[in-house]
This record gives sequence, structure tokens and C-alpha cells, in this order.
Amino acid sequence: MDKIVSLARRRGFVFPSSEIYGGLGSSYDYGHYGVLLKENVKARWLEAMVQERDDIVALDSAIILHPKIWEASGHVSGFTDPLVDCRTCKKRFRADHLGDEQCGRRPSKRPGETTDCDLTEARQFNLMFETRVGPVEETGQRVFLRPETAQGIFVNFKNVAQLARRKPPFGIAQIGKSFRNEITPGNFIFRTLEFEQMEMEYFVPPAAADEWYRYWVDERVGWYVRYGIRPESLRVRAHDPDELSHYSSATSDIEYLYPIGWSELEGIANRGTFDLTAHTESSGTTLEWVDGGSGERYVPAVIEPAAGVNRAMLAFLCDAYDEETVGDRERTVLRLHPEIAPVKVAVLPLVPRDAGMAERARALHAELRRVMVAEHDDGGQIGRRYRRQDEIGTPWALTIDEQTLVDETVTIRDRDSLAQERISIARAREHLIDRLAAPWTAPARAGAADA
Ligand code: GAP
Repeated sequence: MDKIVSLARRRGFVFPSSEIYGGLGSSYDYGHYGVLLKENVKARWLEAMVQERDDIVALDSAIILHPKIWEASGHVSGFTDPLVDCRTCKKRFRADHLGDEQCGRRPSKRPGETTDCDLTEARQFNLMFETRVGPVEETGQRVFLRPETAQGIFVNFKNVAQLARRKPPFGIAQIGKSFRNEITPGNFIFRTLEFEQMEMEYFVPPAAADEWYRYWVDERVGWYVRYGIRPESLRVRAHDPDELSHYSSATSDIEYLYPIGWSELEGIANRGTFDLTAHTESSGTTLEWVDGGSGERYVPAVIEPAAGVNRAMLAFLCDAYDEETVGDRERTVLRLHPEIAPVKVAVLPLVPRDAGMAERARALHAELRRVMVAEHDDGGQIGRRYRRQDEIGTPWALTIDEQTLVDETVTIRDRDSLAQERISIARAREHLIDRLAAPWTAPARAGAADA
């Protein structure tokens, strides 16, 4: 993890937030390449959920919703973690994670293991952030920052079902920020106070819920593999009955083998009819499916694949990270799927002060950036320029050299194989578009298994 954090910082993917004020634990800011990478993760998800299917529509609901929504959903009473405080070291721990925590005074021990430890009884702590609507502190209405995007989908069920003229099975997909006052955030961007979720609620006839639950587990594992995660770094773990959330009759986590060990990347839950029934009872508006033709009516069951954008980004970074020696030089390379990589192509004039090369490089860069994220780099030795691109995962580099001036061809260098071939400048754009669309699988790692 240290190597990933250091690369992310060095190349401006992710910075600790509020750094000049000493930082705010477990909040992060995303720099240029981090934003591009994160946007690519979201775009691929939306494509797979909405663009490539006929049965799912998009939604963007508000972050601050009516407070009754969180009462009906069970979050006000039940979205809690048990916490204990240590009166000696003043640290706070999740009571159910004591085995994974370090004592504040003796990090080699667990909390409660030393005679100095003085732990309080466990008490329930609600994870929702509260704020107020209205200018006057005392009279303002208490509201919450949403801890999941899902409820914004359930309360729009009637609007969307009518307007989109969809009948079950159909889904509503949403990407957006969620907020949780996590007691023990940590591990870089794995668990933070604010994060982005990609959630899809799939409404199905109750009798078909189990079948669709299994379908979505397979579908979501397939999405990670399609975008380059190695299958051996993924596993599906079904929740034990005592782990299930209050709304769920079955949940499976897709886990990724992060440097911290196997941990949740995405959860797929069978939420049954819990949410639509709860909001019907609480709001007085009936949320059910009514067939206009036959008059048949029922409350659909919900299957929910719920993914974290930031955790997905971390998994893509971890899986792509590699180090190898080429000739007598070390290189760090992110072997990202080209559709996930922040920059698709770099254009490099071999001798920047050569006017012919400089001019052709500028013109080619201008042409390519109209269809994909392209960088122009004329600073320093060509080898160093290649290495800079390898570190941010740019799959291809086009080099303008002496021969370009003679026959209007450039070399295209492949980030992973390091193979170079010559293609004509006139065909470069088409060539790259074809390669971007081609299927891609992660190459074997040179030596980052222990990274
Ligand atoms: N609507 C269901 C739901 O929110 P969840 O398992 O609590 O389920 C879904 O969250 C996903 O959101 C998780 O699998 C994880 O990827 C991401 N996530 C949850 N809490 C997070 C946090 N504090 N920081 C970063 N990502 C988080």
C-alpha cells in the first residue's frame, strides 16, 4: 500500500485533504490524473449499466433528502456501529473490530490486551452526518447527508416507472457522493468520510428475486474482469445470516485482494420488498408496479449491486502496479486497461528543438486530443519521458523522429510489451481508436506481487 500511496501522491492522483492545515484524517483530494481515472471508472460503469442495456435508466437525486426518508429506511435507528473508547489512550475503536486494531500505547497489542487498557462499554454510534436546513441554528430542520445513494432511487420509483414506461425487471442507476461518519476510517482511500457510490436498484417480480440476485453477482464480477482486474484477485463471499443488513435477505460481497488483505469492493444485496414497502407506509404514496393492461399489481423485490468508486479506483491501481528492470534501468508501470487509463496517448518529439519534429508533434497532438485524452511532452531525455508516461499508465506513446520528416511515419510504443512499430501519421488517430476498442487482458506482472 505504501508504494501505491507514494505513487498516487508523487504523480498527483490523490493528495491528503486540507494538507496545509495539517490534514483532516481520511479525507482525500483528487488531482489531475486521479480525476481522469475516477471519471473513467464511472463512465465504464454507466456504459455497462445504461448504454449497453435496454432495461436500466439513469437518475441523479439530491444528497440532502427529506429526513423522514432516513427514518423509514431504518437508518436513523439502525445505521450504527458499536464503539468503545479507551480511557487511558483516548483512542476510539469499533467494538466488533477490536481484533484488527492496535492499542494506542502499545501498537503490538490489541485494545484491551494490556493491563493499562481501560475500555468503556460498547455503545451504538450513528454513522450519518447531520446538518440543518434554514438560517437559524435553533429552529432549522435537522437533515442528514445521505449515507447511500439508494434511498434517492426508491423514493423516485413511481416517477421513473411511469415516465420511463418500464415494467419489471427494470433498473435505476445512480452515481454520487455519500457520507459516513466512520469511527475508524483508514487505509488510504479504502474507507473515507465522503466517497462516491455507483448503485443500481433492479426491480423484479418477487418470485424471480433469487435468480436475478445470482445474475447480478456474475455480471458485476465480469465487469471488473472486463476492465483488467485479474480474476485471481477477486472472490465472492456470501454474508453469514448474522452479518446481513436490516433490509437484506441475502448479500454477497465481491472482495478484492488489496495489500491490506481480502476486503469488500462491492456488495450485491437482495433487499426484497423492504424499501418500497417502508416508503409506502411512511409517505402514504403507494409504491408498487401496476400493469396497465391486465391490472396486475405487486410490490417488486429489489436486487442491488452497490459499488464504491474510490474502492474500485484503488483496486484498479493495485492490480495495475508493477515494477521491472528494463536493460539496466528500473521502471514503475501502471498496467491499466486502456479504457481506464487517465491518458491514452503521449506525443513525443524526439528532438524538441528540431522545428520540423516540434511542428509535427504539435499538429498530431492537436488532432488526437479531439477524440481522446492525449499529452504532449517535450521535456527531458526520451527515456525519462517514456518512464513518466509508464508511471501514470499511458498505454501508447507516439514518437516523432528523423524518419517522420522523410516518410510521415511515427513509432508507436506499447507500454506493456515495449514493442515499437511504425505507423503513418495519417492513420495514427484511427489506429488508436481501434486499439482502444479492442479487448484487453492484464499482462503477467514482472515483479509487483509483493507491492
Ligand atoms: N446501498 C447499499 C450500500 O450502501 P454498502 O456495502 O454499505 O452498501 C456499498 O456500500 C459500497 O460503497 C461498498 O462496497 C464500498 O465499495 C463503498 N463504501 C462504503 N463505505 C465506504 C467508505 N466509508 N469509504 C469508501 N467507500 C465506501
